[in-house]
Amino acid sequence: MTETLARRRVLLVIGGGIAAYKALDLIRRLRERGASVCPVLTAGAQEFVTPLAAAALAGERAHTDLFDRAEEADIGHIKLARQADAVVVAPATANLMARMAGGHADDLATTVLLATTLPILIAPAMNVRMWAHPATRRNRATLEGDGVCFVGPNAGRMAEPESGPGRMAEPNEIADALERMLAQAGDARPGLGFLAGRAEAQPRPLAGRRVLVTSGPTHEPIDPVRYIANRSSGRQGHAIAAAAAQAGAAVTLVSGPVAIPDPAGVAVVRVETAREMLAAVEAALPADIAVFAAAVADWRPQSEAGTKKIKKDGSGPAPLPLVENPDILATVSRMNPGRPALVVGFAAETDTVLDHARAKIARKGCDLIVANDVSAEGGVMGGSDNAVHLIHRDGAEESWPRLGKDEVARRLVAHLAELLDS
Ligand SMILES: Cc1cc2nc3c(=O)[nH]c(=O)nc-3n(C[C@H](O)[C@H](O)[C@H](O)COP(=O)(O)O)c2cc1C
Repeated sequence: MTETLARRRVLLVIGGGIAAYKALDLIRRLRERGASVCPVLTAGAQEFVTPLAAAALAGERAHTDLFDRAEEADIGHIKLARQADAVVVAPATANLMARMAGGHADDLATTVLLATTLPILIAPAMNVRMWAHPATRRNRATLEGDGVCFVGPNAGRMAEPESGPGRMAEPNEIADALERMLAQAGDARPGLGFLAGRAEAQPRPLAGRRVLVTSGPTHEPIDPVRYIANRSSGRQGHAIAAAAAQAGAAVTLVSGPVAIPDPAGVAVVRVETAREMLAAVEAALPADIAVFAAAVADWRPQSEAGTKKIKKDGSGPAPLPLVENPDILATVSRMNPGRPALVVGFAAETDTVLDHARAKIARKGCDLIVANDVSAEGGVMGGSDNAVHLIHRDGAEESWPRLGKDEVARRLVAHLAELLDS
C-alpha cells in the first residue's frame, strides 16, 4: 500500500444506482483501513439503500438534505465540503456524472461536490450502453479535465443480461485507488485539479491529452474452470500507463487479469476476454493516443463456456475448435471517425522479429509498432526488462538497447509526445 487511510476522513457520496448496496460494504472497508466516513446519499440512492444503514455502518449521521434546517443554520453543506481529506462518489451514476460535469448544485451531493476543493475519486456504475453513450463519454472527459480521478468501471456481468464495462469497481479496489490518490495528492491537499498542479517540477508533455493503454493477457474460457491464457505479466503496459499519467495525460488502462498493482493516477478498467477488452476500448475512446500493449489471445474456444466443467469420458482428448478473436488494433486503426491521432501496436515475436513487425504495421494500419523478441533468448515475456525495436508507418526504424520496462515506457511516452506534436 502506498498510503494508509488511518485517521483520514472520507466524504462518501452515494448515487442512485443498483450498486449502492456495494457502497455500504465500501464504508466497512474504509473503516477497516482506519478512515472515518461521512455518508451523503442522493434522493436516488435512498431508493436503493437507507440513510439508516449507511449511518449505522459509518457510525455517524448520514446526510441527505440540502435544506436541512438544523444543519444549514451554519451553512452545513460548505462545512461538509471542507471537513474531509477526499470525496469518493460510489456509485457514480450516469445522471450524477452528468450533474457533476454540468456544474449543477440541485441537491446536497452536487452542491458539496461543486463547493469542494478536495481531491475527488469517482467509481462509475451503469448499464454498458449508458457508459458507452457519447454523452457519458463527454461527461467523463470533462470530469477528467477537471482533475477528477476515476476507478473502473470493470467489465463483467451486471444486473441486466449484458456484459461489458459498467460494473462498479469492487470496494477494496476503490479503497486502493483512494490510497493512491491521496498518496499522489500528498500532504499539501491542493484540492480539485491537484493532479495538474502536482507535477509542475517535471515536464508534462501530454498535459491535456487523453491516452488509452491496454495491458496484460486475456483469458478465454473453455469451461467454468479452464481457460486459454498467455504469459504476459502486464508490466510493460502498466508502466506505459504510469509514464503517460506522469507526463500529464488523462489515462485509461484497460487491463486483462494481472497480478501487479494498478499504476497511480490512472483509471483502470478490468476485463477478462478479448471481446470484453474491445468493448472497454471502444467505451474509453476518444483518445489522442492509443497504445495496445496487451497480449490479446488470437483465438478463443468456439463454444461459449457453459456452467458445467467438461468431463473426460475415456474417448481421448476433447475436441477444442477455436475461432478468431476480434482484432482490437486493426479495428481502432481503421476507425473513421474516431481514430486516435496515434495508434501504437506491440508485436511479441519469437523469430524474424523485424520482418513480422514490418508486415504487421502494413496489415493493421497503425502508426507505430513496438516489436520485441519473446523467444527463449529474448526472454522478456513476464520479465523486468525489454529490448524493443520501433517501426514507424513511414518506414523509419530504430532499435533501443535492453532497458528496464519503466525506462522503455518513459522513452516511449516521450517519443509519442514528440510524434503527436509534430
Ligand atoms: C432498478 C434501477 C437500477 C438503476 N441502476 C442504475 C445504475 O446502475 N446506474 C445508473 O447510472 N443509473 C441507474 N438507474 C437510474 C438512476 O436511478 C437514475 O438516473 C437516478 O436519477 C440517478 O440518481 P442520482 O443522480 O442521484 O445518482 C437505475 C434505475 C433503476 C430504477
